[in-house]
Amino acid sequence: MKRKHFIQSLSATAAGTILLPESLSAKASKDKKKDENSPKPTYILPKAGIPSHPHNEAYWGVIATNFKRSTGFINLENGYFSHQPQGTLSHHLAAETHINTQTSHFMRTAQQQEIEAARTAFAEFQGLLPSEVAFTRNTTESLNIVIMGTQWQPGDEVVIGDQDYGSMVEAFQQAVARWSIRLNVAQVPIIPQSDAEIIRAYTSLITARTKMLHLTHMINLTGQLIPVVAITREAKKINPNILVVVDAAHSLAHTPIEMLELRNSGVDVIGGSLHKWLCNPIGVGFLFIKQKHIREVWPLMGDISAERTDIRKFEHQGTRPIHSLQTIPKAIEFHRLLGSVSKYNRLTYLKLLWIGNKQALENFGKGLGILNDPQYQANMNAVTDLMNMDAFKLQSPLLPFNRGGAIATVNINGYTPTELATTLFNKFGLFTVAIEHPIIRGIRVTPHLSSSTADCIALNKALTAICIDLIPHLEPQK
Ligand SMILES: Cc1ncc(COP(=O)(O)O)c(C=O)c1O
Repeated sequence: MKRKHFIQSLSATAAGTILLPESLSAKASKDKKKDENSPKPTYILPKAGIPSHPHNEAYWGVIATNFKRSTGFINLENGYFSHQPQGTLSHHLAAETHINTQTSHFMRTAQQQEIEAARTAFAEFQGLLPSEVAFTRNTTESLNIVIMGTQWQPGDEVVIGDQDYGSMVEAFQQAVARWSIRLNVAQVPIIPQSDAEIIRAYTSLITARTKMLHLTHMINLTGQLIPVVAITREAKKINPNILVVVDAAHSLAHTPIEMLELRNSGVDVIGGSLHKWLCNPIGVGFLFIKQKHIREVWPLMGDISAERTDIRKFEHQGTRPIHSLQTIPKAIEFHRLLGSVSKYNRLTYLKLLWIGNKQALENFGKGLGILNDPQYQANMNAVTDLMNMDAFKLQSPLLPFNRGGAIATVNINGYTPTELATTLFNKFGLFTVAIEHPIIRGIRVTPHLSSSTADCIALNKALTAICIDLIPHLEPQK
């Protein structure tokens, strides 16, 4: 019997002995109704009419109160995962409590329908078809399903990027060891001068043997957003049979780009994590696979009960926290209350503010018509343009703005990344993360919706002090 049919049959009256007596069933559903009638968690929103301009703390300061801030330090390392707003967290806890009360009755009767509701909500949110979306634990699992589930032949080629996420690189390296495929690594410019330069880095490596092109939409090391749509279009012109696989861990719900846009450009597979910028509880990822490719990819966990063309074959995960899936619609609600563009602008602004670059801040302010706003000017005057400091080496593109979002990485001459992160933490109470990568070295800074302009000004001041302190050491010895 097919697994999903089995699950459905348990809720049907004809299912046989395993069904609960009707009176218990009725009681269970009354209890559920009672839960549903308890007060719904809500989000704290600014009063109507307060503009959501990215520098406006009267708006974003209220949004930030939805999050419980870390205690004892200022968290500027929100790239690992996003904490959840309290409204989302309460929903998650309530859903967990419900499951903890209803136990296996919930799992045997309501689980699948809750997963399907979450699937529909997420697919609709990103403009995808529910039949092309599977839920996984995270991006790592989503992309491993495809990397390990592809029917490789010795000599098949893959194009990856030199700044792809470590777990994906390891997965491809394992595929090299296991199936003797060949990896061709594109050297992605750190500060690109044009889209064409990035497109060329990938397309120049495509041959008739290229089976897969793996693109990291937003590079976690630097926050660079690469032009996936344009790369995909060019790649498919060269070899239409290439499977284009996108790691959207950091781009989903961070940039305003919807996954539909990627799909429409020819992208075949996307993996992402909902616990990053969507602020869903930890442990939920998604895997999009275009319908025509579902059949050819083997699931990571053995599954012969779902049809080979059914996306659910990738969800054979055993017992798992369904309450985290049930929270997806709530996380989407919070995202929609802010709006993709406003959220992206706020996150981009926080990055520009701590870097302090006057040209970028002026262009950004002009573009949004807020340059002459007294608060915008005051914030600009409160920061030093770190780009003017000799020791300050930004590892992330600043302009045009659509080459990134919240994330940026900086190296300061005279400090190792670990020394810099440690100094910022110990002396200034600012938490960032040291990046030690063969290509990128520095501290990565990732503000969040819970961050304030004051946090970013504090980082700017700390880095200014560090750079100034360095001046005697960097001056030539007399
Ligand atoms: C670009 C990128 N891909 C994949 C991942 C892995 O995400 P997860 O740990 O949710 O699987 C990360 C994590 O930070 C990432 O930055």
